[in-house]
Amino acid sequence: MRIKVTFLVILVNTALTSSLLTPAQLPEDATLNYSQLGVKYGHKVEEHTVVTEDGYILTVFRMPGKKKTPVFLMHGTGDTSDCYIIRGNKSLAISLANEGYDVWAGNGRGNYYSRRHVKLNPDTDPSYWNFSFHDRGYYDLPAMIDYILQATGEKSLQSIGFSQGTTNHFVLLSSKPEYNNKLKVFIALAPIAYLHNLIPPVSIIGEIGPILNQLIPSNVNRILDIKSFERSIIEIVCTQEAISDLFCVTLGVLPASGFDPKRLESSFLPTLFSHFPAVFSRKDLIHHNQLILNKRFMNYDYGPEENMKRYGFVVPPEYDLRKVTAKIAMFFGNSDNLSRPRDVEYLRTLLPNVIEHHLMKEKEWSHFDFIYGNDMPETLFPYIFPILEKYS
Ligand SMILES: *[C@@H]1O[C@H](CO)[C@@H](O)[C@H](O)[C@H]1NC(C)=O
Ligand SMILES: *[C@@H]1O[C@H](CO)[C@@H](O)[C@H](O)[C@H]1NC(C)=O
Ligand SMILES: *[C@@H]1O[C@H](CO)[C@@H](O)[C@H](O)[C@H]1NC(C)=O
Ligand SMILES: *[C@@H]1O[C@H](CO)[C@@H](O)[C@H](O)[C@H]1NC(C)=O
Repeated sequence: MRIKVTFLVILVNTALTSSLLTPAQLPEDATLNYSQLGVKYGHKVEEHTVVTEDGYILTVFRMPGKKKTPVFLMHGTGDTSDCYIIRGNKSLAISLANEGYDVWAGNGRGNYYSRRHVKLNPDTDPSYWNFSFHDRGYYDLPAMIDYILQATGEKSLQSIGFSQGTTNHFVLLSSKPEYNNKLKVFIALAPIAYLHNLIPPVSIIGEIGPILNQLIPSNVNRILDIKSFERSIIEIVCTQEAISDLFCVTLGVLPASGFDPKRLESSFLPTLFSHFPAVFSRKDLIHHNQLILNKRFMNYDYGPEENMKRYGFVVPPEYDLRKVTAKIAMFFGNSDNLSRPRDVEYLRTLLPNVIEHHLMKEKEWSHFDFIYGNDMPETLFPYIFPILEKYS
């Protein structure tokens, strides 16, 4: 603890005494939330509250549009709805709203917009953080989808997910197949279900995951939560344009997933790292690790005894992708080190209703280019909009 505090003090001192950007000098978009960004880029934004069956209180943002069919956006792990808007005029949310779509952006349990519960206190109840991508798919998505359908009086909507936002959909559509009929089409950007073909460094993290898990104290149930030490480091260090290139991009999380400085230019990084990453629950990381090590897209492994009680099997059952009958359009990139093309191809062979699978033409297209890339309006949206038009 003392080491941590000392480190923080040094950083703060450095920030104050050198020419580093202070919060007041950050780009405006680094300091605005979803609603404020929506307004800045020309749209009215509504904030809706959705309560899940198991008591989590979620925030869903809406930019109303004149088209009838709602479009629902679901973010990835460690992220929020902000991923779809911080690119401003070049973002998916704003581009959709400009075209008259009724845009709804969801927020999974735990992130800074959805950090509430009817009974549990996220600060003091460890069981609040007892969730993985399974729960965001099994509880959060259906609650948000049903809410949107009820609010609009529509029978079905169009859905777009990125990364774990797609995993959440695969969990939902296989576990509660009645939701297939509530989606006119599901657009999966950088889809993730199988993690068989990971390469270093991500695959190494997968291999050492169980050891890390042993080393980390059992009371640590989340990382990068608001006001956490590690979050404050990112806010201080990574929002500095000059050093975030080296420290946060070259050494950090982005290259691990394939990072292309052409599409994520330095001047965007202060805005990016003011919004991202948001919280990861420990159970979510463990569940991912189980997928990597077992090479199966399966329910959480509680150990043989608890598995037997919960699932009736010693080994956790796989999610049955044959039940995912909704129309699916998949987009994936050649240099994406998380959603690997070979894993996406394998996933495609198991899904019964893939209407389009599109390998991005750009050779160096990587994971975050689907939500943060500066050329999305030219490279990606011209493929997304016709699909939304066709299946409206
Ligand atoms: C966004 O910021 C505005 C202005 O500070 C605030 O009124 C609003 O509650 C915020 N919205 C959310 C969801 O945090
Ligand atoms: C966004 O684009 C619109 C239309 O081109 C323009 O009028 C507006 O000024 C832009 N907004 C910002 C904040 O750059
Ligand atoms: C998390 O949930 C599992 C399964 O319901 C339970 O066995 C475990 O005790 C829970 N842990 C916490 C911290 O709530
Ligand atoms: C991501 O994958 C690309 C393509 O395989 C590779 O060139 C790049 O080095 C990888 N990035 C990292 C940090 O491993």
